[in-house]
Amino acid sequence: MPDGDAVWRGGGDRAQDRAAVKHVVILISGRGSNMEAIVRAAQTERWEQTLGARIAAVIANRVDAAGLAEAEALGVPTRVLDHRDFASRSTFDAALRDLIDEYAPTLVVLAGFMRILGDAFVAHYAQRMINIHPSLLPSFPGLHTHRQALAAGVKLHGATVHFVTPALDHGPIIAQAAVEVRDADDEAQLSARVLAEEHRIYPRAVRWFLEDALCIEDGVVKHRDRSAQAVIA
Ligand code: GRF
Repeated sequence: MPDGDAVWRGGGDRAQDRAAVKHVVILISGRGSNMEAIVRAAQTERWEQTLGARIAAVIANRVDAAGLAEAEALGVPTRVLDHRDFASRSTFDAALRDLIDEYAPTLVVLAGFMRILGDAFVAHYAQRMINIHPSLLPSFPGLHTHRQALAAGVKLHGATVHFVTPALDHGPIIAQAAVEVRDADDEAQLSARVLAEEHRIYPRAVRWFLEDALCIEDGVVKHRDRSAQAVIA
């Protein structure tokens, strides 16, 4: 669907959404603190009752991803698909797609998922896959964003939730949170303050999607009720 068409996202036109429950699948590779923030929001805000939405599964590409135990403790089914078992990126992508699609997801959430996904995979989940990146995009795509921010001397840094497009750390921006960079900050301190804001904006962005509250118009995401898509900590 072209970006130019304004469509309130949430998948209201998809067959699986005519089912009683909208399924969310979360992909992780490690700690899983953003996944935990989303699952806790879903439970605290009773998304199943209020939005008809359920966190259907947490999938990791590493068996040692710490977040798997946390997801299980929170009562969310977990699966592991180890990328090292696949000879190529495309065969891993295809197996991951099949695994995710067992849950007929309305939304796929990348939460610290440290694999680059191929164009075909991204196209399969066009406008129904989102990511969080620890910088104020388009500044500092890629790795070591807090180090990059300190080296650049920026005075504001933060995090971005965006729709996933084939270009890495790119795509229509759903929400951003900014924190002040302090003179005394080191990478760990700055990262901790940004992470606290990630935990605020990511569950909120997921909920907006599930509420059909987001519209992409010419590559720009707007919230139906003009809810604040910017947080200044
Ligand atoms: C977060 O900083 C996220 O922005 C980035 O990877 C980190 C994952 O942390 N994509 P966690 O696994 O959610 O704790």
